[in-house]
Amino acid sequence: MKLVFATNNRNKLKEIQSLLPESIELVSLEDINCIEDIPETSPTIEENAIQKAMYVKKHYGYDCFADDTGLEIEALNNEPGVFSARYVGEAKDANANMDKVLDKLATHNNRKARFKTVIALFINNEIKTFTGICEGQITEKRQGEKGFGYDPIFMPNGYTQTFAQISLTEKNKIGHRGKATLQLIDFLK
Ligand code: IMP
Repeated sequence: MKLVFATNNRNKLKEIQSLLPESIELVSLEDINCIEDIPETSPTIEENAIQKAMYVKKHYGYDCFADDTGLEIEALNNEPGVFSARYVGEAKDANANMDKVLDKLATHNNRKARFKTVIALFINNEIKTFTGICEGQITEKRQGEKGFGYDPIFMPNGYTQTFAQISLTEKNKIGHRGKATLQLIDFLK
């Protein structure tokens, strides 16, 4: 069975393929000649993931899974949430996004935040969703060079280092995306 992972990231694809039975062949967007930007215009992380998976099914006919992730900060009414990539604008500038978060939190004591990943799977004419959450705190300033996005200002609960200071293996073990992916793999097995 061919299953599309709505990504062009070969590393992510390989990683998940290695955890799936051989009967499932994972293919990327490029493999099915989907080169356009898939619309992500929904109001929630969950609906965005569903929108992407349904788009592939509708336009290309393949069963598919897609993921969407956001950072939810309690004191900011769960901002940036679904706007995490574009918090400051369409330039999707990670540094500007982090500055905006730090500025907005300057007057708050509550720095609780969580990363949320939703994977939506469209299979056998049904949608299933898998959610992974990682709870933590927004730090006062950037720490660490690893990772991407908001990693330098997110410290997972139980840690004294940010996501940008721990190894990718460690991040995958405790992180939002890793947790959602494990549920997907369990389901597909
Ligand atoms: P996407 O849905 O995976 O494209 O994520 C949307 C945005 O959320 C990204 O552009 C990043 O700003 C942020 N983001 C997602 N995952 C992570 C993460 O693991 N660490 C830090 N930021 C992330």
